[in-house]
Amino acid sequence: MSYRENLSYCIEAAAAELHARTAADQYARPEKTSKLIALLRSLPSPVRLKLVELNDQKNLPAIASQGDRTILGYGCEAVVYKIDHPTTDPFVLKRYRSRGNVETDMSSRMATYVTYRQSLGDIIVPTVFFQVPKQQKTPALTAGCIQPYIPGKPFFLNPELALQEEVRALYDGTAAMLETHGALPDFANDNNVLVDDEGRLYDVDTGGLKPLTNATTGAMGRNLDLIAEYAGERQLIC
Ligand SMILES: Nc1ncnc2c1ncn2[C@@H]1O[C@H](COP(=O)(O)OP(=O)(O)O)[C@@H](O)[C@H]1O
Ligand SMILES: [Mg+2]
Repeated sequence: MSYRENLSYCIEAAAAELHARTAADQYARPEKTSKLIALLRSLPSPVRLKLVELNDQKNLPAIASQGDRTILGYGCEAVVYKIDHPTTDPFVLKRYRSRGNVETDMSSRMATYVTYRQSLGDIIVPTVFFQVPKQQKTPALTAGCIQPYIPGKPFFLNPELALQEEVRALYDGTAAMLETHGALPDFANDNNVLVDDEGRLYDVDTGGLKPLTNATTGAMGRNLDLIAEYAGERQLIC
């Protein structure tokens, strides 16, 4: 690995590691003693964000350079940008951190997205997936997606802002997914479902199907209870 590639890799790994409990499973980490990772960890957050962005620049498709970019999140799954474009509405661009083979990874992401849409319909934000082949000067093949930017608050922290019919649809869709696929949507992160000023709900993260295990219900139990409560039901999982 060249110095440049190694640097990119360390920034990626450190950024993911800083934000995600599961990052360790998804990354073969560089040597534990990496001074670079230790240094990145010690940086103040704005500096770290800038580094992540600088590191990412060459990896992003051209459209990402046509407006102002702000990083909304950098979890283990994706670096998430808001793009304030001069001629279109603001949109979100997610550059996925690859989990092995990019093509296989993307097929599985698209299949999961379709499953979410089948069960939860319009609550799932319309998403366009893309791959940019590796160019001469870019470090790697880039994969990601584009979505409209949803100005909203985390639903699970503000459930009272949602219209009851919307929570009802979320309840029914979740129950339908469980029934058809034996799995739940990923409601572990409070920010995955947003509520706008009019009380409408938007699920922006279709990253994974969560099998019904104790770990899943443990991690999302509070949020599943909230959905039931605000839908006017006793509970979501019997
Ligand atoms: N379309 C969107 N509009 C507004 N905010 C978004 C959008 N997509 C993602 N976000 C914000 O960025 C965060 C991270 O995005 P997400 O897709 O959940 O990535 P991850 O897989 O890393 O959790 C979300 O939890 C949400 O707060
Ligand atoms: Mg998320």
